[in-house]
Amino acid sequence: MKLNEKLFEKFNELAERKTYRTRVLPASDPAAIAEAVKVLSSGNVCAVPTETVYGLAASAFSEQAVARIFRVKGRPQNNPLIVHICGLRMVYPLLEGIPKQLDALAEAFWPGPLTIIMKKNGLIPSVVSGGLDTVALRWPSHPDMQALIRACNFPIAAPSANLSGSPSPTTAQHCINDLNGKIPLILDGGACDVGVESTIVSITGDEPLLLRPGRITLSQLESVLGHVRVAEGVTHRPDEGSAPPCPGMSYRHYAPKAPLRLLIGSAEAFAAYVKTQPAEGACALCFDPEGTRCGLPYESLGAEENPQSAQHALFDALRRMDERGVGMIYARCPAEDGEWLALFNRLQRAAEFDVVRL
Ligand code: TXA
Ligand code: MG
Repeated sequence: MKLNEKLFEKFNELAERKTYRTRVLPASDPAAIAEAVKVLSSGNVCAVPTETVYGLAASAFSEQAVARIFRVKGRPQNNPLIVHICGLRMVYPLLEGIPKQLDALAEAFWPGPLTIIMKKNGLIPSVVSGGLDTVALRWPSHPDMQALIRACNFPIAAPSANLSGSPSPTTAQHCINDLNGKIPLILDGGACDVGVESTIVSITGDEPLLLRPGRITLSQLESVLGHVRVAEGVTHRPDEGSAPPCPGMSYRHYAPKAPLRLLIGSAEAFAAYVKTQPAEGACALCFDPEGTRCGLPYESLGAEENPQSAQHALFDALRRMDERGVGMIYARCPAEDGEWLALFNRLQRAAEFDVVRL
């Protein structure tokens, strides 16, 4: 008998309304890992720490569990998920052919904040990869996430553990704020070191393509791959109507509730610009110690012009400004390239491309 899809969908929707008493357990405790293995093996989801941002994990082999990820996050079905593995042993069985650049990339950057897009075979279900014939793979370096993948011994699909559209979570508290009552378990592995999502490179075409900048920079990638093309949507708004290279790029992302204007330039030019704008409800997002000089309340992107501490601070700062209910955010990024590309990219999207070059 054919399954009545409508009834099945309704059944799932009602089942999702069940609210969980979400437990938060310390990720470094082997008993917590064992609990997460139980949750994931039974087709459910849980939030897990990685070195970039927290992920909302499910077994990549369970279509039902992966469907739950999409429902919990409110994520569009055609936006594919990253699959997390631990060791190349878990990579090869998922691929259609082994790309020639894989070993060198893995040697240089894995485990770590790099996601590699490659042609997949039929093992990873279509729901994971949004119907594409490719799969995004990452071997994270966070020790507790590694312990979890090893204990599961199956690949783990995990998008960032935020509600779709809000800034990615970098602490267990951020996960609680977004997902409390919606999932059974959050593993607390402390604040994420990197703070922005992994760099994504595709090696499926004739030349490697950077789809999302992150802690691993373009020049680091080029030192291994030779020339890497940068996808259009990374540095500016993709052309109206053109297909996004990465499905996630077509959605508003990293966005705080208040409108954000991104200003590119020096601390002095930033302070001078901000002083010409209406101050009512406005908040600055900039570096220590310039915040005190721009005449507005501010959230800090960390030590003066340090791209890595700015990445680490970004999403927590955006979330804090939401909590403060600010009306307008003026954010500063010193430059748009090199080590600043990842911060620029996230802020540009949070700004919905409202960018002023000072
Ligand atoms: O650091 C990270 O990558 C975190 C942690 C949890 O690992 N994960 C993360 O996942 O940021 P998510 O789902 O928030 O972002 C994944 C991005 C999306 O923009 C998606 O469209 C893209 O990766 N993506 C996934 N599979 C893809 C594929 N086969 N082809 C092109 N883009 C893909
Ligand atoms: Mg995300």
